[in-house]
Amino acid sequence: MHFGILGAGSIGCYVGGMLAAGGEKVTMVGRPAMANRLAAGMDMTRYDGLARELDPNSIDFSTSARALARCDTILVCVKSGDTEEAGRTLLEAGVEGATIVSLQNGISNADQLRVLAPECTVLAAMVPFNVARIGESRFHRGTEGTLVIEGDGPDAETSGEIARRLSQAHIAAATASDIKSVLWGKLAMNLNNAVNVLSGLPLKAQLSQRAYRLVLAASVREALAAMQAGGINPAKIGKVRPQIIPAVVSLPDWLFRLVAANMLKIDEEARSSMAEDLDAGRKPEIDWLNGEIVRLGLRTGIATPVNAKLSQMVNRAFAEGKSPNLSGAELLRKVGL
Ligand SMILES: NC(=O)c1ccc[n+]([C@@H]2O[C@H](COP(=O)([O-])OP(=O)(O)OC[C@H]3O[C@@H](n4cnc5c(N)ncnc54)[C@H](OP(=O)(O)O)[C@@H]3O)[C@@H](O)[C@H]2O)c1
Repeated sequence: MHFGILGAGSIGCYVGGMLAAGGEKVTMVGRPAMANRLAAGMDMTRYDGLARELDPNSIDFSTSARALARCDTILVCVKSGDTEEAGRTLLEAGVEGATIVSLQNGISNADQLRVLAPECTVLAAMVPFNVARIGESRFHRGTEGTLVIEGDGPDAETSGEIARRLSQAHIAAATASDIKSVLWGKLAMNLNNAVNVLSGLPLKAQLSQRAYRLVLAASVREALAAMQAGGINPAKIGKVRPQIIPAVVSLPDWLFRLVAANMLKIDEEARSSMAEDLDAGRKPEIDWLNGEIVRLGLRTGIATPVNAKLSQMVNRAFAEGKSPNLSGAELLRKVGL
């Protein structure tokens, strides 16, 4: 197996770097700025102290997607807004017959890649853990969890082999026959991104305030209602079933601190990835997260005003390049609660 990484950013560099450090053949494709950062080598670290490093000679990095033509397993690690360009790039690079795995958040990226690269087998996947770049070239995985790859029907053997190689490289991975449930379960967990961006606060400070959590509860409640109407049963990702999130996050602060102590075990300064995208001037993934709930609501006849308003406000924040820094009470009012 020759792995290709399309989109060497946080996830791409961590997964690609760990696979390469584990002895797999890996070609990474990314931007010139990342090529410069990795010129002196790269490090991969994990919450529990597991660490690997690669010297420059062990990194096969290219800024041209043509390098992917020699890969048979390509992991797409670009943000959802870049999927279309990534799919076209694969086509132009002459990638044919490869297995493409979307390691992206959201629901529709794999479907979009299937349309753009009809000669390839495309598999959806769910990455449960966070990765952040620290300094120039260290990629730090902050949380645990098992990566899940679509593994249904004729593709089960291929996805099983990819999962086995990832696991061997210390990225625990498994396959699932119902990947849509897994993707929707992860999406429910991602809905706090929007609230965090609009608060302008670190995650811990934001989640510690009930008013923000009530907005999150309303957003998740709408998501669950739309999923139920659409016949979707969101899978449990991590320790909490999506169905109980609204009740848990609606608890008074003192009780929430007791019951959900794990949710607050976060670095004081940690922010959501969408808040980091805002700071870095990147595009938001909001249309693939809360926006996906709004579209599902339209298809199933379920009203999703909170998610629609959150999407609109986040898009405005990105257009203005800054968070509106809303208090919990202000945010509750603005989403109509
Ligand atoms: N980071 C996490 O903790 C995490 C966890 C779970 C899931 N995810 C999901 O994983 C996906 C990737 O997230 P990420 O945080 O790794 O994003 P990221 O750090 O922004 O990495 C994506 C990289 O791909 C580059 N890129 C985009 N289009 C490209 C192209 N056509 N050719 C070459 N390079 C290209 C981007 O460059 P530019 O920025 O210059 O465009 C960026 O460097 C997202 O869907 C995210 O939601 C992330």
